[in-house]
This record gives sequence, structure tokens and C-alpha cells, in this order.
Amino acid sequence: MHSQVLFPSESTIQHAAKLLRNGQLVAFPTETVYGLGANALNVEAVKRIFDVKGRPSNNPLIVHVADISAARPFCHINKEAKMLMDAFCPGPLTLLLPKTERIPSEVNAGLASVAIRIPNHPVALSLLKACKVPIAAPSANSSGRPSPTTSAHVLQDLGDKISLILEGGACEVGLESTVLDMTGKVPTVLRPGGITPNMLRSVLPEVCVADSVLRPLHEGEAALSPGMLYKHYAPKGKLLLVKGTPENVRTRCLFLYEQARHAGIASCILAFDEHISLYANARVISIGALAQPETIAKQLFSALRSLDEQCVALTVCEVMPPHEMGLAVMNRLHRAAAFQVIDADKPPTNQQA
Ligand code: TXA
Ligand code: MG
Repeated sequence: MHSQVLFPSESTIQHAAKLLRNGQLVAFPTETVYGLGANALNVEAVKRIFDVKGRPSNNPLIVHVADISAARPFCHINKEAKMLMDAFCPGPLTLLLPKTERIPSEVNAGLASVAIRIPNHPVALSLLKACKVPIAAPSANSSGRPSPTTSAHVLQDLGDKISLILEGGACEVGLESTVLDMTGKVPTVLRPGGITPNMLRSVLPEVCVADSVLRPLHEGEAALSPGMLYKHYAPKGKLLLVKGTPENVRTRCLFLYEQARHAGIASCILAFDEHISLYANARVISIGALAQPETIAKQLFSALRSLDEQCVALTVCEVMPPHEMGLAVMNRLHRAAAFQVIDADKPPTNQQA
């Protein structure tokens, strides 16, 4: 099979909706990343998502709906959840809510909650309205790879496994939705994204952020979300994050880069636009401007994918303050680097030297 990439029109949306209703998979754009959709009420179709992505079946899927009324049959929406939905949906926010019996256990890995999202993208919304069923959709990448922010990324990963990709250009946000758990005592961000903690707190001041968004799980620690258990977003080569004062970060990045280069290892530096000129003779890839964190979110996954295209074996990467959009960026970078962070304010260890 080779995927067809179709530009959205009334007839292609109807065609995609028909495929979904018939139990097939369709990749479609959202404002965050491309999703790999299946009719959430068709268990066989849902199972195919896990096969195609190579995704563990205990990692639950997000159920996408067109509006709040379409969500009601599938989850219990309390007053606080309704306030957040009124403020941010459609948008890059996923709420974990108590599920109803209509959610097949294959969708939510048999948990008591279901993840509900109303995407803010005209193609996604038209598709949801046309197919008249909820769409279960993870990111449309092979499990473990950076999420796809263009149709070309989807083709790279799944081009021989699905029949249709709807074209939507580059995704506006570029990182996956914020996942907020509404089932505990305090609403808790399990995955930071485009709706930042302070935006959520403008509606519900008590919102907190799980500290595991920036650290690996301790041995035996239960994952708040199954997605935290798995390696994610990783390029094929090794990725190291470098923190410290700007001068020390620059010096250490260049040191590690040169050391690898002399050893014959294809290496690269991921740097912010403001610092590119500091690495004049090195191979550098931009990850956007510190002054505009949204540009970093938008470019990050493309940058990580380009490392593989260029067969880079070692990448050193600058870090940014983990606040607001920076929290989402640093969450993805920590995971992509398997939480390997070098402190450039300390002398190099033997391993790094
Ligand atoms: O922006 C997005 O959210 C994209 C687009 C396509 O909507 N989707 C996406 O899906 O990123 P996925 O499957 O790649 O990530 C969903 C995350 C996973 O980490 C999963 O473990 C978590 O949400 N999740 C889903 N349902 C859950 C539940 N009931 N309880 C805890 N975590 C859940
Ligand atoms: Mg994903």
C-alpha cells in the first residue's frame, strides 16, 4: 500500500469520513500534530492503530470530537471541566475525564478515564462533523519517533501502512496538546503543551503540573499517564542536553561537538536562533528563537527528524527555561534525550572528555 495524500475539499473530506466509518485509518492534520484516526467505536479499527504504529496496547488513545455536545455521551463533564472547555476548546487541550460505558476498553487501555479533545483545525473539525463518530487518534508517527508536523513526516513513518493522509500544511502549534488530568483532587498537567499552566490557572487557579514532566520515573514509581513509560521523540543518534550559563553552554557544546568530530562521529549542535552565529564553523540546526518560544515548539520535531535524515550520531542541544511554552519544549527534549543532561557549569567528566 502507498498512502494517497489528498488536499481537503468537500469531496475528499466525505471520502475520508466514509473510510473512517468503514473501519479504515485516515491520517489528518490538527493544530498540534498530525493524528492517525480511527472510528473510536469500532474496536477492530482501534486495534489497527496500535498495529500500524507499533504502539503498546496499554497506552491509551485520545478521543477527538467536534464540540462539547459530541463529547457528552463518552465522558462526565463536571463544572470545572466545562469552564476549561468553554475557555480553550476547540484548542490544544486534552482533558482526562471519567469515561462512560460507551468507550471501548481498547481505546483507553481499560482505565476509568478517557482523554477527550476538540481540535482547533478546520480539516479535523470538518472530518469529525462529516463522519459523525468520535475519532480515536494518537500522533501519526511510528511509536517512539518524533511526532509528525507535516504530511511528509506521516509519509516517512506510515506511507506504506495507511491508505489516506489529508494534507493540511505544517501544524500551527507543532507540539502535542496539553494533557490535563481532571479525575483527581487537583487538576494536574501530565503533558505540557500549547495551553500553558498559567493559561489554565487563569480559569482554575489550583491547576498544578506533575513534576515527572521533567524527570525520569523513579524505580517502581507508577506512571500518571502510560505515555510517560515509553521512550519518545528520540532521534536515532544520541542526544545530549547541555545546561548552564550561556558562555559555558556554548563552550561545552563546541567541545563535545569537536571531540566527536575528531573521533569520526557525525555530530551536530541544536541551537536557538540568537546563538547560531556563536557556532560559526560547526554543523548547527536552528530550533527557533528564544524570544519567540512558539517558533521553537513549531520547529522542534522537524529539527529532530532532520538529525536522522542527516545521519547524525551525536547531537548536543541547548536548553531553555522550562516555563510556559518552554515547559512543553523541555518536556519533549528531556524525553528525546532520555533525560541525559550535562551541566556545563561543572568540569567535564571522563566520559564526556
Ligand atoms: O495533540 C495531540 O494530543 C495529538 C493530536 C493527534 O490530537 N495526539 C496525541 O496522541 O498526541 P498520543 O496518543 O500521541 O498521546 C496521548 C497521550 C499519551 O501519552 C497517553 O498515554 C495519554 O495521552 N493518555 C491518553 N488517554 C489517557 C488516560 N485515560 N489516562 C492517562 N493518560 C492518557
Ligand atoms: Mg504520540
